[in-house]
Amino acid sequence: MSRPSWVEIDLSALQANYASARTAHGGRVFAVLKANAYGHGAQACAQALAAQADGFAVAFVEEALALREAGISAPILVLEGAFGADDVQLAALHQLWLVVHQASQVTLLEQHQGAPLHVWLKVDSGMHRVGFAAQDIPGWHARLSDCPQVAQISTITHLARADELGNPQPTEAQLHAFDQATRDLPGWRSVSNSAAILAWPQAHRDWGRAGLMLYGVASCASNTTNGTAAALRPVMTLKSRIFAQRWLEAGQPVGYGAIFTAQRRTRVGLVAIGYADGYPRSTPNGTPVAVAGHLTQTIGRVSMDMMTVDLTDLPEDIGIGAEVELWGRQVSIATVAAASHTIAYELMCHVQRVPRVYRNA
Ligand SMILES: Cc1ncc(COP(=O)(O)O)c(C=O)c1O
Repeated sequence: MSRPSWVEIDLSALQANYASARTAHGGRVFAVLKANAYGHGAQACAQALAAQADGFAVAFVEEALALREAGISAPILVLEGAFGADDVQLAALHQLWLVVHQASQVTLLEQHQGAPLHVWLKVDSGMHRVGFAAQDIPGWHARLSDCPQVAQISTITHLARADELGNPQPTEAQLHAFDQATRDLPGWRSVSNSAAILAWPQAHRDWGRAGLMLYGVASCASNTTNGTAAALRPVMTLKSRIFAQRWLEAGQPVGYGAIFTAQRRTRVGLVAIGYADGYPRSTPNGTPVAVAGHLTQTIGRVSMDMMTVDLTDLPEDIGIGAEVELWGRQVSIATVAAASHTIAYELMCHVQRVPRVYRNA
C-alpha cells in the first residue's frame, strides 16, 4: 500500500466556477491556466473547460503549447509574451495571442516573417510592473499597426489592488488611465482579473481573465456579500490519512522546536503529509483541519513528511486510517493561507509529490 496522501481536483466545480465568472463578467472570459493551472493540472483543466471556455491564458509559450498538444483549439493568450524570435515563430505556427509589453517584443514582431499574429498591447495603467506607459500607447499602437505580420491589436492592463474593496481610488485611477490611453484605439480590451470580475463591474470590458476564482477562491470575499463569490466551489482538496497516534501527558511537547506543549492529556494524530508536499511549514498551532468530517486543529510544527493534529475531542473510533482534509471543501484554503502568512495562490501552486485524482471528469 502506498502513502495515503493525494490531491482531489473536482472538475465539475471548475466548470461551475467558469460559468459563474462568465455570468458575472457579462462577456468573454479567459480561463487562466498558467503555472499548471495554479497547481490543478493545466491539461486536464483545459480539457474539462474546452466546451465552455472562450479562451485560455498562460504565462509563456511552452505552457500554451502543452494546451495545444492536449487538443485545445480555442484562443490562448500568452500573458508574458515572447521571450525571443523562436517564441514569435511558435506563436504564429500555433495561433497563440501574444501580449506585447516592451520595446524588444515590438522589434521581434517587426522582424517576424511567418504567419500573421494577433497581439495584445499591454498598458501600464498604474501597477508599474510591465507594460508601456499610458501616454505612449497610441505611438506603440501605430508602430504595431505598421508591422505587416501583425493582423490584429487588442489592449490589456492588469489591476494591482482590485482585491481592496474598501480602497477604490487606485483601481479607479488605473481604469481611468487605461480608458484614456486606449480611447481612440480599435480592438478588444481586457482588464479584469478575478477580483475585478467579482467586485468591479466598471472594469468589465470585452474579455475578463479569471484565475483564482476559477479554482473556487474569492480573494475579495471576506468583506463582501457578493453572491458570485459566495457560490464559488473549491476545486482542490488536499487529503491524507492518520497513520499513527499517541498520547501526550500534560506538560509534554511534540515535534521540532516544541512549539506545542500539551495543557491536558492530548491524543495526537500523525498525518502522512508535510511541507515537502506543499503544506506550509509556517502554519501555526491551531490551524483548522478536518478529520473524518470533524473540524479540529494542527498542533506542533509541520515536518517535511508528516504533521500532527489534535484528536482529543474527536470520537474514540476516529484514529489510524481516518481521512484528513488539509484544505478544500471543509477547510478553506484561504484560512490556511492567512494563518501561514501567505495567499491561496501560493499554496495551490506549491502542491507536489502527491498524486492528483480527478473527480467528476
Ligand atoms: C496578467 C494577469 N491576468 C490575470 C491573472 C489572473 O488573476 P487572478 O488569479 O487573480 O484572477 C493574472 C494572475 O496573476 C495575471 O498575471
